[in-house]
Amino acid sequence: MEAKLKELQQLAQQEIREAGASEVLEKVRVKYLGKKGELTEVLRGMGSLSAEERPLIGKVANEVRESIEEMLASAKNLIKEKELLARLSSESLDVTMPGKAPAVGKRHPLIQGMDELKEIFIGMGFRVAEGPEVETVYYNFDALNAPPNHPSRDMSDTFYINDNLILRTQTSPVQVRTMEKLKPPIRIISPGRCFRNDTPDATHSPMFHQLEGLVVDKGITLADLKGTLEVFAKHFLGEHTKIKFRPHNFPFTEPSAEVDASCFKCQGEGCSFCKGSGWVEMLGAGMVHPNVLRNCGIDPEVYSGFAFGMGIDRLVMMKYEIDDIRLLFENDMRFINQF
Ligand code: DAH
Repeated sequence: MEAKLKELQQLAQQEIREAGASEVLEKVRVKYLGKKGELTEVLRGMGSLSAEERPLIGKVANEVRESIEEMLASAKNLIKEKELLARLSSESLDVTMPGKAPAVGKRHPLIQGMDELKEIFIGMGFRVAEGPEVETVYYNFDALNAPPNHPSRDMSDTFYINDNLILRTQTSPVQVRTMEKLKPPIRIISPGRCFRNDTPDATHSPMFHQLEGLVVDKGITLADLKGTLEVFAKHFLGEHTKIKFRPHNFPFTEPSAEVDASCFKCQGEGCSFCKGSGWVEMLGAGMVHPNVLRNCGIDPEVYSGFAFGMGIDRLVMMKYEIDDIRLLFENDMRFINQF
């Protein structure tokens, strides 16, 4: 039996020496040391040995196993090294090859427009306030003085989550949230997403963007609103821009107005862009309704304020001459890269 073991050792040694790759080496290991390996087979036969022979042969068998394991280990290291060298030389890096240019994104025209609007108002001393997109009926309608039967509350116009929760239809609720938190003087703008149950077409999107503005202090008048919007219009649409107020109705302002800007394409002469009128619609605005101030714990006898709200998507489309609002939300880089 001892001779058989020595023979196995020699055979294994030879096969290990000849193995040139990791997989071959692994096969050799299984062949000799595996569960059904040749050495294992011999050891299984030890049961038939006499009590004197058993420890002797056992010792030899252990030595043989250890020596095979050692040979396998050192052969494994050698082969690994060889394989690594081979890989390194075959995978050599050609540093003169042209690289793969990483795809660089672009600021979305809407974000560019929003940043520009923010910059203009921050330059006039406004701060940016934020409010939630999922809003309560109270903040979106009640606190803003909207009567219970106001059509904008309708299920067909507003996305209701339940009786009290909606997706905000305007950024105006941020006015209320701000007045509840801060004491006058208040000077904030609030850009953000709004939602209305509109079927998408060239001018409607169920998700769109507004920028709200609010100023509250002692002695704020319509003249302050007019001056502020004039400065804004000149910055955003060009130095020669004029603005005009048209009477309108919003529940949260009194008086209310829609504000038009002289057409920045024809300077008010009348062109196809402004449909010959010389004016383009810019935003809604007005003096904060005393009820709204009261709802927020601000005394309308002491303080007054103005507010305005504009559709960012519409203004950006106007400025960049984009004729379909849906283009803003398709994220097609061929479109976005143009701005
Ligand atoms: N929230 C109004 C809308 O969605 C826009 C608006 C009009 C906001 C007048 C105002 C405002 O703050 O004073 O149509």
